[in-house]
Amino acid sequence: MIIIHSVEKLNGYLTEIRKEGKTVGFAPTMGALHQGHVSLITAAKKQCDIVVCSIFVNPTQFNDLSDLEKYPRTIDADCVILRSAGCDILFAPEVSEIYTAHELELKQQHMEDKSWTMGKTVDFGLLDKVMEGAHRPGHFNGVAQVVSKLFRIVQPVKAFFGQKDFQQLSVIRSMVKQLDLPIEIIACPIVRETDGLAMSSRNRRLSAEERDEVKLIYQTLSIVKENYQLATIADLKKLVEVAFKLSALIKLDYFEIVDSETLQPIAAFDTSRSAVACIAVQLQTVRLIDNVIMY
Ligand code: PAF
Repeated sequence: MIIIHSVEKLNGYLTEIRKEGKTVGFAPTMGALHQGHVSLITAAKKQCDIVVCSIFVNPTQFNDLSDLEKYPRTIDADCVILRSAGCDILFAPEVSEIYTAHELELKQQHMEDKSWTMGKTVDFGLLDKVMEGAHRPGHFNGVAQVVSKLFRIVQPVKAFFGQKDFQQLSVIRSMVKQLDLPIEIIACPIVRETDGLAMSSRNRRLSAEERDEVKLIYQTLSIVKENYQLATIADLKKLVEVAFKLSALIKLDYFEIVDSETLQPIAAFDTSRSAVACIAVQLQTVRLIDNVIMY
């Protein structure tokens, strides 16, 4: 695996690869890699000739500076994981390779920078207003901003994202469509620990007691999925609320059953349109999200 830090060097390298007629697959990450990320690399390897993974802790998608500072940075361990997963190129740029001082200043002033749309009108409608969008203002603009920049740099034919960040996937798909980028977005299934906890870089920040308790998240989602034909949405929401009220360590931020395409809460089950149950919980210092596709 080659490790590249500069956009210029990556451009030069990828230009040669494209000249050879090889296809490039891309898995953007923020590092602190786990088996969930490995599944993205594995899928990319199956579908593309060359796999590029980026590790970039994106400052513009954090609402809270302390969250950005606390984000785990484990580049040496990440390289070991990427090498054994068969990644070809790791792109690990400095912040100054990706953002201008002006863009960072806008973020500091909590102003949304829209220059990443390259003059096009990009409107996510309600996709970025609900769930994570409602709890983390500006987060999805920051995600779209960095992913569009990385897409322009790497120019992959396919890009691979985990389904755990279901709303992020929807926003990225919408962005690609509206910017008319020739990139296929591939959603990779959630990878779970043996007790069902969705793999996440944030899990390593849980205390032993919290780690034990958070299995409740997937247990609850599984009960919801198993019982949807027997209960109303209101009943299932109540059930989830009660389950988390009984937990001393986990606070439920939201639980929603939404249409998989629009992300709007559904009023009743209708199997002619796919629905997904999404959850976010807060522990003492860690926020976790998860989801299950109902049907
Ligand atoms: O899912 C992530 O790790 C990040 O949001 C992404 C897509 C790499 C953008 O910074």
